[in-house]
Amino acid sequence: MTAAAWHPVAASHELRAGENIVASFLQGAELALWRTPEGAPQAWDNRCPHRSVRFTLGQVVGDRLSCAYHGWQFQAGSGACAGIPAHPHLSPPRHVCVKTWRVAEAAGMIWVNPVADSTDAAPVDAVPAGWHFCRTLTINVPLASLPGALQALGWQTQGPVWGHAGLQARALPLDAQAGMGMLHVWTAAAPASAEMAALHAALRQLRASAEEMA
Ligand code: FES
Repeated sequence: MTAAAWHPVAASHELRAGENIVASFLQGAELALWRTPEGAPQAWDNRCPHRSVRFTLGQVVGDRLSCAYHGWQFQAGSGACAGIPAHPHLSPPRHVCVKTWRVAEAAGMIWVNPVADSTDAAPVDAVPAGWHFCRTLTINVPLASLPGALQALGWQTQGPVWGHAGLQARALPLDAQAGMGMLHVWTAAAPASAEMAALHAALRQLRASAEEMA
């Protein structure tokens, strides 16, 4: 697993099966995230291939997304056009297809892999089983500055993911935007526990140290 190829784009609980569409971003691309009624996550470009209207304005209809403007429907999985309400007897044109992204669900997050020919498996081993997503910390320093700050505060690198045994935490540093780092954090600590409070305090200290060191 190379977690760096997989980017967390939303918390799992934000996507309700067969119901809502969630906007997200990845490397400058605007995403529309949703689930089929069976719960399979989908990550699509947030633009309808017909006239570029945002899918996040549309709705989930069974295992399709329906665009808000002319109601064209697109199929989960392939992103292929599957129906044009104004022309119910017309076979949908094959070339009209949404750009879809490789998507996986692990450790309480929806992950997207932007590398088209990547052979990396889904990021299921980035976080130990039973751990849960804690928070995303944005830090006002470039991504390259984060390893130094993590190391100075007792975090150890485990590939692209960093761990802190004392805090029962794992952290994945990623670019948020130019000059700004982002740290996705998972933990074994129970919500509202003393361990969780200690972790939040340590993360605040980490942000202060990183910004001071930069
Ligand atoms: S813009 Fe989406 S169906 Fe026309």
